[in-house]
Amino acid sequence: MQATKKMDDFFQSKTCIVVCGASRGLGECISLTFARKFPAGSALILLGRDVKALENVKSKISEECPHQMCVTQKFDQGSIQQENFDQLFEGIFQVHKISLSSFEQAVMVHSAATLGDITKYAKEMTDAETVKCNFDVNVTGAILLNSTFLKAFDDILKRVVINISSLAAIQPIKSLSLYCSGKSARDMFFRTLAVEEPSLRVLNYAPGPCDTDMHKDCREKSKAPDTKQMFIDAFNSGVILSCQTSIDKLCQILMTNFESGAHIDFYD
Ligand SMILES: NC(=O)c1ccc[n+]([C@@H]2O[C@H](COP(=O)([O-])OP(=O)(O)OC[C@H]3O[C@@H](n4cnc5c(N)ncnc54)[C@H](OP(=O)(O)O)[C@@H]3O)[C@@H](O)[C@H]2O)c1
Repeated sequence: MQATKKMDDFFQSKTCIVVCGASRGLGECISLTFARKFPAGSALILLGRDVKALENVKSKISEECPHQMCVTQKFDQGSIQQENFDQLFEGIFQVHKISLSSFEQAVMVHSAATLGDITKYAKEMTDAETVKCNFDVNVTGAILLNSTFLKAFDDILKRVVINISSLAAIQPIKSLSLYCSGKSARDMFFRTLAVEEPSLRVLNYAPGPCDTDMHKDCREKSKAPDTKQMFIDAFNSGVILSCQTSIDKLCQILMTNFESGAHIDFYD
């Protein structure tokens, strides 16, 4: 792990945090944990498709952290239309009367992702729409959302981008070809962003195997028997992590002077 020196001020700055994929799983856990850790007067913007689930996360935050502002916005990262991205934040700022001058830091968390069709091997990826949809959500949408975030928060000096990556970004997993290749492309995009923009702090965090809907789908739907077994074994043997355990580790990493653009795994 490249992280060494302490950067204790990450959780001390009044921050506007955007979490895409905040409705459940790791994104929900990040939203709740960040709401607890950032100073009063910070704000959370929760994005995802399932509005009811987002509202549920917002209620938990409002109950536990009434000192934080929390807003939700229906957003489909896989719906690639220019206008869905261009005016996203301006619309949110206007409706919720958010003034950026009250924040010292802006954080973008890219947690949204989809496994896509894991019932097929790579050689069976014949359906154009299936392949396109997967890359739309996992790659194209994440890139466009990130650019619109950077533009909207341009006036804030400290900006941090967290890409929730995966072991799958650096290791092939049978029957997860679309997911692995999308995660790999996404890591490289954020690594490139990091070298182009030294004023940003960019982290690709691989959270380890976590107990979420996505992990359940891998246990139940993976076509390759050895892949399926690997996920079942992780679950049955207790190797699987709670989201909180993994996100606590993320918080520790964020307080270190990690190399911007690095891929850091829970197990590093
Ligand atoms: N769980 C693991 O073991 C594990 C391991 C390594 C990496 N990861 C990574 O961790 C991240 C979170 O995964 P998870 O395990 O928490 O999965 P999850 O429980 O299935 O949650 C996925 C999240 O992504 C959102 N999402 C999916 N498609 C979307 C779209 N088109 N537009 C907007 N949001 C969308 C979902 O929200 P809506 O349905 O409301 O849109 C949901 O909040 C992913 O990037 C995943 O690759 C997970």
